[in-house]
Amino acid sequence: MTYSHVSVLSKEALEYWVQDQEGVYIDATVGGGGHSLQLLSQYPHVCLIAFDQDPVAIDAAKERLGAFSNRITWIRANFRDMDQKIDPSLHGHIAGIFFDLGVSSPQFDDSSRGFTYQADATLDMRMDPSNPLTAFRLVNMRSKEEITHALREWGEERWARRIADFIVKAREREPIRTTGQLVELIKAAIPASARRTGGHPARRTFQALRIWVNDELGALNQGLEASQHLIAPKGRVVVISFHSLEDRIVKHVFRQWAQEQKGHIVTKHPLTPSDEEVLENPRSRSAKMRVFEHF
Ligand SMILES: C[S@@+](CC[C@H](N)C(=O)[O-])C[C@H]1O[C@@H](n2cnc3c(N)ncnc32)[C@H](O)[C@@H]1O
Repeated sequence: MTYSHVSVLSKEALEYWVQDQEGVYIDATVGGGGHSLQLLSQYPHVCLIAFDQDPVAIDAAKERLGAFSNRITWIRANFRDMDQKIDPSLHGHIAGIFFDLGVSSPQFDDSSRGFTYQADATLDMRMDPSNPLTAFRLVNMRSKEEITHALREWGEERWARRIADFIVKAREREPIRTTGQLVELIKAAIPASARRTGGHPARRTFQALRIWVNDELGALNQGLEASQHLIAPKGRVVVISFHSLEDRIVKHVFRQWAQEQKGHIVTKHPLTPSDEEVLENPRSRSAKMRVFEHF
């Protein structure tokens, strides 16, 4: 399978991310390497430290960015630990840190990874295949209360309790092994009248499970915290998020940093893709970019 991911807000991201044309930059989520390709090709004197927790993404990005390999350091790890993974001599010297959150198109489209409700696959949803926690374990082993809480908090699913009820009853008969089985349960749990609005009935449950499996919000909080130890004076932290739970965290953390006099918020309002970009790449439609510049 070719690894093809269309980068979101790519021109805008580069413009805000790069202030020092000879700096060392971090791409916390290199994915298919699209944003980094632009960085390295437009700025011949910058260096890059590229993170991703998915080895498939790292391999794909290595291939795509092969021409620039002498300026790249690769780190396959969760960005939540980025300060521990980076040589202490670079702490306080990183010119800009970029986060493009969530899953990439290839992760989503490779149905065997279990991220999508559009195809039948094992319930997995791990971005990092060495993570012992899978969607299968959560769905089959966690209590009804925990599942309800997760669907409500991270899926903003109003039918959370009913879906959790259906899951727990079904798994008493046999384990729920596939995304297809789960989709059927969700459809059965949500009343027909409510299913007619709000998109695919499984969308919110799948979002919640994905966030839970990958501890996406915990990682975001910790990654932003870790970025503070690395960033240089005048360095920028740029974050593209794809749902309101992530955006709320970024907004809150940047506000707190501003109150603590660590720098200023560059984007008073988040930047969003143009109508043209959304038409060309519908997956960009929920993107929001926020930027903070340190003193
Ligand atoms: C939206 S894609 C990035 C796409 C990339 N900017 C491009 O232009 O091709 C997000 C990537 O971030 C990775 N990722 C998500 N959360 C992560 C985390 N906490 N630590 C490391 N990588 C993460 C995913 O594995 C995925 O490859």
